[in-house]
Amino acid sequence: MTDTASKSGSNEQKRRKVTVPWLIRMKQKGLKIAALTAYDFTMAAIEDSAGLDIILVGDSAGMVISGAPDTLAVTLDEMIFMTRNVRRGVKTALLVTDMPFGSFQISKEKTVEAAIRLMKEGGAEAVKLEGGKQNLEAIRHLTSIGIPVMGHLGLTPQSVHAFGGFKLQGATDKSAERIKEDAIALQEAGVFSIVLEKIPLDLAREVTASVDIPTIGIASGPYCDGQILVAYDMLGLESQYMNLRFVRRYMEGADLIRNAVGRYISDIKNGEFPREDESWHS
Ligand code: KIV
Repeated sequence: MTDTASKSGSNEQKRRKVTVPWLIRMKQKGLKIAALTAYDFTMAAIEDSAGLDIILVGDSAGMVISGAPDTLAVTLDEMIFMTRNVRRGVKTALLVTDMPFGSFQISKEKTVEAAIRLMKEGGAEAVKLEGGKQNLEAIRHLTSIGIPVMGHLGLTPQSVHAFGGFKLQGATDKSAERIKEDAIALQEAGVFSIVLEKIPLDLAREVTASVDIPTIGIASGPYCDGQILVAYDMLGLESQYMNLRFVRRYMEGADLIRNAVGRYISDIKNGEFPREDESWHS
């Protein structure tokens, strides 16, 4: 967790498990929350060992893992599969998983069933649902039976077609008002945190000040209680978004991989891989 993480990002100190109540206390103490997405065991284990507070199995997997233009096609079974793999790599971060499009819009019963599968079969510790007032009944039910829920307002990618693209939200008075009302309503329904995606930074600051639960921003400026990015974007792994304004790249991952693969290819072509000491004698 961030209050004990070393500056290098590699945290060898003993960290305590991040929990839902601890994240709320982090807001009260003014400690910033650091979150990233992960979709597989290996990446999750590396990210967790660096000291993240939250690891999200995002349905952004549909774009960065599957190469789809949006997140809509991701299924519940795929989310469970990825969550189970990520689960094995996560020791201290809170493991949150996305409820995919179609898993929480049909009925309260189906929503609960899907959330339970994500926790029971995937090992998620909390679920994230996109949207505001339209989900209140389902969220109240989930929180009443002890399932922690993270909200998601602003640019909710599952509504990309209704928005006409991955556009800034909350830019008009009416839309900003709706986001502010939705944040209060989500808090009242019991969510423990809200992702604010691609809204103006002053609106994000206002929403953050209006709720007691932490806001986690993406493309929403510096005044949220925490930040999340899609891991492939910040690692420069040639994702669809890695060149956008809100993404800070901490590594040129695609160049590093291409270079390593290129050296591997030429070692093979030149007969330099494998050597005898990388082989077995009979
Ligand atoms: O799916 C996802 O990765 C997300 C985050 C970017 C917030 O919802």
